[in-house]
Amino acid sequence: MIDKHNPPSVALVMGSQSDWETMKFSEKTLRDLEIPVVTKIISAHRTPERMFDFAKNAEGQGFNVIIAGAGGAAHLPGMISSHTHIPVIGVPIESSALKGMDSLLSIVQMPAGVPVATMSIGKAGAINAAIYAAKILSVYNINVNASLKSWLAKQTNEVPITPNIEND
Ligand code: RP5
Repeated sequence: MIDKHNPPSVALVMGSQSDWETMKFSEKTLRDLEIPVVTKIISAHRTPERMFDFAKNAEGQGFNVIIAGAGGAAHLPGMISSHTHIPVIGVPIESSALKGMDSLLSIVQMPAGVPVATMSIGKAGAINAAIYAAKILSVYNINVNASLKSWLAKQTNEVPITPNIEND
């Protein structure tokens, strides 16, 4: 539940250290948006008890949104979603074997009743997960609302009107 007296916070979890190269873009974007984030490695397959404890206690620990990155047989986002009503945003990691199509299809194909908001594969998905988390939180929190609008305006202002052709 949103606590009006405390800033909202996001839990950022990933299945392996190897996922950090992608998920660091979620963390950086959350920090740019000034949203508190707690980052952990939790594997649905290798640390199932850690996953269960995390998901069961996520609300009590004050998290409002969970971002979960996983690759291959990417069960982490879905399994967390099955244990909590906090919104879960899934980021498919670009796997070496199947270029992340395995991760994408694993995360996106949830059964009715257990949703995961699935982003695109890799870095873009990691960045968008943070922005999507901010969009959810901005509905309730005036500070996130302001920082999100500022971040989006900066992105727009940074797009040049004409291409740089000096290096051709
Ligand atoms: C998944 O297996 C992780 O999310 C990771 O993307 C993938 C490979 O993990 P490592 O073998 O690199 O630890 O559980």
